[in-house]
Amino acid sequence: MQSCLEPAVRPGTAGASAASGTGAETPAPTLGAALLQIRDLRTAFHTRRGTALAVDGVSLDVRRGETLCLVGESGCGKSVTALSILRLVSPPGRIDGGSICFAGQDLLSLSERAMRQVRGARISMVFQEPMTSLNPVFTIGQQIAEAVELHQDVSADEARDRAAAMLRQVGIPDPEIRLDDYPHQLSGGMKQRAMIAMALVCRPDLLLADEPTTALDVTIQAQILDLIRALQQASGMAVILITHDLGVVAEMADQVAVMYAGRIVEQAPVNDLFGQPLHPYTSALFRSLPAAHAEGERLNVIRGQVPSAFSYPAGCRFCERCAAAVERCRQEYPPFTEKAAGHWAACWQVPTQAGAGNA
Ligand SMILES: Nc1ncnc2c1ncn2[C@@H]1O[C@H](COP(=O)(O)OP(=O)(O)O)[C@@H](O)[C@H]1O
Ligand SMILES: [Mg+2]
Repeated sequence: MQSCLEPAVRPGTAGASAASGTGAETPAPTLGAALLQIRDLRTAFHTRRGTALAVDGVSLDVRRGETLCLVGESGCGKSVTALSILRLVSPPGRIDGGSICFAGQDLLSLSERAMRQVRGARISMVFQEPMTSLNPVFTIGQQIAEAVELHQDVSADEARDRAAAMLRQVGIPDPEIRLDDYPHQLSGGMKQRAMIAMALVCRPDLLLADEPTTALDVTIQAQILDLIRALQQASGMAVILITHDLGVVAEMADQVAVMYAGRIVEQAPVNDLFGQPLHPYTSALFRSLPAAHAEGERLNVIRGQVPSAFSYPAGCRFCERCAAAVERCRQEYPPFTEKAAGHWAACWQVPTQAGAGNA
């Protein structure tokens, strides 16, 4: 087994300068040992048009029992980050660098066979689109029971019972009957819940949930988020939750990481991030929220465009849209530093407050 037990790297420590090959180091803000430790992850799509740097130096830590919410506009690299953790990025996408350490194992150097043991059993993923993980030619029951049998030593009857119990937990009525349905016999919301049941039935250590409840009505959404929280409390499951919904973030997150153009631009405990967003992009994101506007008022969308992943500028990637930008922002990418205790941001214009670790 490949292990990776080196301690987390923090800026200002001896290891920080060696942590990255990209010049723009992004050490993850962390205290204590993490279940998942991503360092300087780089995943790119190598196409005929050129190379799209979808994930471009991402570092993140997630501890047991913790929920990290990953937020940011469409196309910023959230899904590719999650897919990279499971090594499910398909060509022309490829992980080009960095490391992903999970429970002491270096996932990027595991054999494909060993990786299959990790997927589903220890790390599972819920996608936005349920048919990404449901197979149309098998019944829901077969698929969920198979997930159980593959990773746990139980009889076929026991696996079926667990599948039914899980379907009930995600709010599917008459689960014993629904077990024999094929995916096309279920509505969109039911398919989504069946997929969530499949992801949770093996009690993973880490759940990657990519906009899992976007398509569901609010009652079912609340029920599923409650279920995820209950499993966290019972088993210490860690969660990376990708969502557009800042209401969900407020309710679920311990930590929030804000992504922009392939990088993390801000990270903090949820109350600190909502209470005092530091990066101009995060502030703009909050202002663009529908809830912040009177009915009928025009949505305050962030002006300008996200730079193309095929050709990022040298400096801060947000600077063309940023009211606070100065010349330096155009020239040099700002380092990701601790601006206030536990509150990190990559911005030249945000001062470091007293009490920050490296102040
Ligand atoms: N199949 C693909 N081919 C080329 N580029 C891709 C492909 N999939 C994703 N990308 C690139 O990766 C970026 C991040 O995508 P993604 O992680 O799906 O964003 P999101 O934050 O919306 O989940 C996109 O903006 C795009 O540049
Ligand atoms: Mg996505």
